[in-house]
Amino acid sequence: MTTYAVTGATGKLGRLVLDEMLQKAAPGEIVALARDPAVLADYAMKGVQVRQADYDDPASLEAALEGVDRVLLISGNAVGQRGRQHGNVIEAAKKAGAKYLAYTSILNARNSKLALAPEHKETEELLENSGLNHDVLRMPWYSDNYVGGLAPAIEAGAVYGASGQGRFSTASRADLAAGLAAALVSGKGGDIYELAGDHSWTMDDFARELSKHSGKDVKYVNQSEAEYATTLEGAGLPPPVAALLASTSYLAGEGQLYNDQRQLSALSGRPTTPIGETIRQALG
Ligand SMILES: NC(=O)c1ccc[n+]([C@@H]2O[C@H](COP(=O)([O-])OP(=O)(O)OC[C@H]3O[C@@H](n4cnc5c(N)ncnc54)[C@H](OP(=O)(O)O)[C@@H]3O)[C@@H](O)[C@H]2O)c1
Repeated sequence: MTTYAVTGATGKLGRLVLDEMLQKAAPGEIVALARDPAVLADYAMKGVQVRQADYDDPASLEAALEGVDRVLLISGNAVGQRGRQHGNVIEAAKKAGAKYLAYTSILNARNSKLALAPEHKETEELLENSGLNHDVLRMPWYSDNYVGGLAPAIEAGAVYGASGQGRFSTASRADLAAGLAAALVSGKGGDIYELAGDHSWTMDDFARELSKHSGKDVKYVNQSEAEYATTLEGAGLPPPVAALLASTSYLAGEGQLYNDQRQLSALSGRPTTPIGETIRQALG
């Protein structure tokens, strides 16, 4: 029997990974790590082993990973703390004698200009120096990020960004979960995957798809990075978040969120979901 652990299992991606894992392994072989195990009561009911662990508490991680063979480390969301936190998980996996660890990084982590990349690069380096057998699973932006609040865009007939004709190789969380579960079960170690979606798109493409599926004419309005940050603040985002998203959009215009290798569908064994389909699903 092989035991598989998933960290960040309470998150939106983590839950989808647990669902994929339940198709691939017996529930008792799956260990879900949660800061608050009560949150995963539904999975415990299915027979998944839910264990308490906090990225900030090395002892909790060591106890939770005891007897685990293979670990999926889903990156945390405490920006600025993550290098240290992920290091705690890597050390605990080593101490527990895990044979394999896969880590969810960011596209092109070593050379990316994105503000979120340095902590992923740091974690990749920690892994490289750990001696632990591992794969790096570099994730694109989620397609889901773009379909959260479509009603105001449809109402205004406009979507905004600073990416010009830059292409986004996004994938849905569900697509990514299938790839991550495949790696957790079958990854051999020594590989760096760029898990981009099969189909890339520009913001003009996005606006066309939104028009098609909403029945309303929606245009893409390209702004400077500073103008777009102001637009996002006007929509209610806190200034640091607006600045991060505007910078990301601008850098997408330089190709920082583009990758055409189609490694996600190769890993998961199924095509990724085109952005138009994600929009269609979001509009219900
Ligand atoms: N590619 C993208 O577009 C994109 C977008 C957003 C995020 N991400 C990255 O991908 C990760 C997963 O995405 P998601 O959508 O599932 O995010 P999410 O829903 O915010 O989930 C984050 C997960 O990290 C866990 N976590 C945070 N701090 C922790 C700690 N100190 N100890 C243990 N667990 C901790 C959370 O646990 P709790 O339930 O206890 O809070 C939760 O399970 C994110 O954390 C982030 O690193 C990628």
